[in-house]
Amino acid sequence: MGNFCGNPLIKLNSPNTSGIALEVLGHQLQFSQDPNSKHLGTTVWDASMVFAKFLEKNCRKGRFCPSKLKGKRVIELGAGCGVAGFGMALLGCDVVSTDQVEVLPLLMRNVERNMSRITQSNLDSASFGSIQVAELDWGNQEHIKAVDPPFDFIIGTDVVYAEHLLEPLLQTIFALSGPKTTILLGYEIRSTSVHEQMLEMWKNNFEVKNVPKAKMDIKYQHPSIQLYIMESKSRAGSASSRKQVDNQLQNVNGSIEHENNDEDDDENKSELAECESDKVHPVGEVAGLENGKLSDWEARRYGSLAARLLRDVKIA
Ligand SMILES: C[S@@+](CC[C@H](N)C(=O)[O-])C[C@H]1O[C@@H](n2cnc3c(N)ncnc32)[C@H](O)[C@@H]1O
Repeated sequence: MGNFCGNPLIKLNSPNTSGIALEVLGHQLQFSQDPNSKHLGTTVWDASMVFAKFLEKNCRKGRFCPSKLKGKRVIELGAGCGVAGFGMALLGCDVVSTDQVEVLPLLMRNVERNMSRITQSNLDSASFGSIQVAELDWGNQEHIKAVDPPFDFIIGTDVVYAEHLLEPLLQTIFALSGPKTTILLGYEIRSTSVHEQMLEMWKNNFEVKNVPKAKMDIKYQHPSIQLYIMESKSRAGSASSRKQVDNQLQNVNGSIEHENNDEDDDENKSELAECESDKVHPVGEVAGLENGKLSDWEARRYGSLAARLLRDVKIA
């Protein structure tokens, strides 16, 4: 058995972790995982589900509605099983789903399987865009050139977890973006220091906005999972663009969470403190418990908590 100590990400596998089902916009998507693989990309991570369900919730009006997204070019970095990219393709985008070469066969299988489910379903599949799969190792100039930047959107879920990956990730995002690119990232905060370093790097280069929990799907959210919308500072400064993003993010109190605002920093810090303590609720106290049973999402969150606890346990 391995030594879990120091590994920033751990997955808990069981015989039924060979696949997950997720309903998005009425489509029953199925994503295969490989419980025997040691590669992080062969598992569906929770932030990708939060991301896809966020798109679903916010696609009726504003910048995520299919009429605005039709034909937009999207690149997904570190796609893994491809859940987040599928969310964008369902809204009409043309998506290039990328990852390291070892992950591509499973990613390809997931893309083909779900595309055929969508085209064979009775639901209207006309709004579906497209998905292609490509190899992209962060920082590899040939891979970057081959996907033909710039893109309208760069997306990624759970790609922020290790300090040594922050710089190549940021450089890759720069290389793929143009003045009008929007960057959508979602991830689970596991290390405060990685999170803070990353925010610092982003805030120096982009206008960073934190999506309020009220804008996320009521079930598919968790205090430790954050979604960010970023644009280049010059673009975000333009009145029309700022209004568009602010409208999208208007939360229930009518206020916006700007990442580069000191007051909001305090708010985010206290939210972060709450995430880090990751309170353990007795099972009966879990919100939304149906008939005393855990939903799939709640079971996943308990798995995540258990994995986090195991991270500090040395298994001989
Ligand atoms: C935790 S997984 C997240 C997978 C998927 N986005 C999800 O949310 O389910 C991290 C992903 O980043 C990818 N990754 C890590 N380092 C990378 C690199 N240097 N270049 C490209 N992809 C990388 C991994 O292959 C993996 O798919």
